[in-house]
Amino acid sequence: MNFSYGRASRFTIFGASHAAEIGVTIEGLPAGTVIDRERLQAFLERRAPGRDELSTSRREPDLVEFTAGVSACDEEGAEAKTVCADGGPLRAVIRNMDVRSGDYEAFRHTPRPGHADFAAMMQSGTTELPPGGGVFSGRMTAPLCIAGGIALQLLEPQNISVRAWPVMIGGETEEEQMRLAVARARDEGDSVGGIIQCEASGVPAGIGEPMFGGIENRIAGIVFGIPAVKGIEFGAGFAAASMRGSDHNDPFFVEEGRVKTRSNHAGGILGGITTGMPLVFRAAVKPTPSIAKEQDSVDMRSLTETKIRVGGRHDPCIVFRAVPVMEAAMACALLDAMMLRESA
Ligand SMILES: Cc1cc2nc3c(=O)[nH]c(=O)nc-3n(C[C@H](O)[C@H](O)[C@H](O)COP(=O)(O)O)c2cc1C
Repeated sequence: MNFSYGRASRFTIFGASHAAEIGVTIEGLPAGTVIDRERLQAFLERRAPGRDELSTSRREPDLVEFTAGVSACDEEGAEAKTVCADGGPLRAVIRNMDVRSGDYEAFRHTPRPGHADFAAMMQSGTTELPPGGGVFSGRMTAPLCIAGGIALQLLEPQNISVRAWPVMIGGETEEEQMRLAVARARDEGDSVGGIIQCEASGVPAGIGEPMFGGIENRIAGIVFGIPAVKGIEFGAGFAAASMRGSDHNDPFFVEEGRVKTRSNHAGGILGGITTGMPLVFRAAVKPTPSIAKEQDSVDMRSLTETKIRVGGRHDPCIVFRAVPVMEAAMACALLDAMMLRESA
C-alpha cells in the first residue's frame, strides 16, 4: 500500500481513524525552514470535524505535535509560535481523542455500500472491518493538511497562493442553497456530494514535465488520494470536448514583458508544464457513503443478504471539509514540482 507522495519533497501518512494517532513524516524540507504553528493549526481547523452543524459530530482538537525533525531550540516550546526544521525527516502527529469504536460493532462483518469496506475485505482476505474505516477514513486527510499547510507556507514567499471553494453541492450552486441541500439530506438520513474548484496563482511558467511526470498527473495523483474523490478536470476539462479549437485555444499576448493568455481554458497547463496562468482544477466529491437509510448488504461470514443502517457519526456531505484538503493537495504537488526543478 502506498501512503507516500512526492519526489523532492516527499511525505508519508501513517495511523488510522481509531488508532492512537495519525500523522505524517515529511522529507526534503531544508534545514532552517520555519513553520508558523498558529497558521498551520488554523489551516487544520478548517478541515477538523465537529466544527459545524453540517459536519460529523466527532469532536477532535486535531492539535499538531512535532515529534522529530525540529531543531533543539524548538523542542522545549510546545507553545512556541514557530518551529524550525533541522533538515532531517519532520514527524508530526495528531492524537485521536474522540474515538467511539462501538459505533462500528453492528456492521463489523457487513460492508457499507459505497464505502471501501467490501473492497478492503477482498484485498486483505478477512471478513472483519477495522473500526472507523481504518486507513480508508477521511480522517487520513488531517495529516495531508499538515503537509499541505506547511507547503502553503513555503510557497507563500514565492508569491504562490492556493484557494479552493465549493461550486456545487447536491445540484445547488448558491451557498445558502448548498447548505440547505446538505441539511435536507441529513434530516432524511441521506447524504449529498458536490464539486470543489481549486486555483493556484503566481505559479511561474515552465514547471513540470511531459507525459507521466506532468503537473496534471501529479495533481491528479494526490487529489485521487483523497477519499471520496471520483473525478478531476483541469481548465475547461470535459467541456473542452465539445468546443472548437478556435474557442478553446487560449490566445497569447504580452503584458509588462510577460507572455500571458487572454483566456485560460488550459487551466494553466500545456504539455504537462505550467504556462504561468492560474492553475485551475475542479474535483467531483461523491455523496458520503455512510448513511442512516436502510440499504442492502451482505454478512460476509455467512454470505447471506442482509439490511444495513449505518449509525455512528458521519458527514452528511464531505465537500465543505474537503475544501482545505484540495488546497493542501495542490500545494503539496506544486511544492514538490518546484523543488524538483530546483534540484535538476
Ligand atoms: C474530509 C472527509 C470526510 C469524510 N467523512 C466520511 C464520513 O463521515 N463517512 C463516510 O462514510 N465517509 C466519509 N468520507 C469518505 C470515505 O472515506 C470514502 O468514501 C471511502 O473511504 C471510500 O473511498 P472512495 O470514496 O475514494 O472510493 C470522508 C472523506 C473525506 C475526504
